[in-house]
Amino acid sequence: MSNNKTVLITGAASGIGFNIAKVFYNAGYQVVMTDKDPELLYQSAKKVGVDVISLILDVTSKKQWTSTIDEIVKQTGKLNCLINNAGIGSPNDIEKICEKHWDMTLDINLKGVMWGCHFGLKEIKQHGGSIINISSIMGKKPMSNIPAYAASKAGVISLTKTMALWAAENNYPVRCNTILPGFTRTAMMDQALKDSDDPESLLSGFKKLSPINDLVSTQSIAEMALFLDSDKAQHITGAEFVVDGGYCI
Ligand SMILES: NC(=O)c1ccc[n+]([C@@H]2O[C@H](COP(=O)([O-])OP(=O)(O)OC[C@H]3O[C@@H](n4cnc5c(N)ncnc54)[C@H](O)[C@@H]3O)[C@@H](O)[C@H]2O)c1
Repeated sequence: MSNNKTVLITGAASGIGFNIAKVFYNAGYQVVMTDKDPELLYQSAKKVGVDVISLILDVTSKKQWTSTIDEIVKQTGKLNCLINNAGIGSPNDIEKICEKHWDMTLDINLKGVMWGCHFGLKEIKQHGGSIINISSIMGKKPMSNIPAYAASKAGVISLTKTMALWAAENNYPVRCNTILPGFTRTAMMDQALKDSDDPESLLSGFKKLSPINDLVSTQSIAEMALFLDSDKAQHITGAEFVVDGGYCI
């Protein structure tokens, strides 16, 4: 049954974003799945539901943000919830790091979220709703070999707080929160395993990093996002939620 709300999810073609799309669809949202990868996006959208809207959106492009939100308003009349999920991450220590790696990581993971907040707010403030930014435990408790990724995700936590304050100070009916997922089995982790000489011990190492000795499910993250957009979370804004099996303790 429809709940009369439209949600836009970035990076929704795979992993965490894909599962968020499924959970919001099942909760009755008009789901708009976006991604920069057209083929994967259309395949994934079909798996979620026939009435899902899928639109190409590279989160680094201001032009595409404008056209995407215009198209959503044209098709559904409004936007109530934005989930800034698209992100990339690969290791590169501070001694070997190159400018291209730094710029690309910060552009997608931080600037992409900033444009999402900027363009999303214009529409969401008219009807009320929330913005949920997907950060990472690496933004709070980083490892040594991912300086660009960790810095981008720490930036997302900070951006969430300024965004929440701005909305509250201006009496906009918009809340903004961030989720910090722990180690989750998606294409991002599969790439790290593929690049490793010993994927099995890397995988068990990822599990052991959390006190519960397990990976986080994409479902747990999606359920947290659904809660944060619900009325049950009406007094929650500017907050960070770790979903990490205890890694950040
Ligand atoms: N997997 C983990 O362990 C983990 C942990 C903490 C945080 N996260 C965060 O969760 C989010 C989702 O990651 P995931 O694990 O599902 O990875 P994933 O690789 O499965 O999915 C990421 C999606 O983002 C898309 N994308 C990449 N660049 C884009 C761009 N410029 N514009 C639009 N879309 C783009 C990709 O095409 C892909 O569909 C990311 O922000 C990631 O940093 C993941």
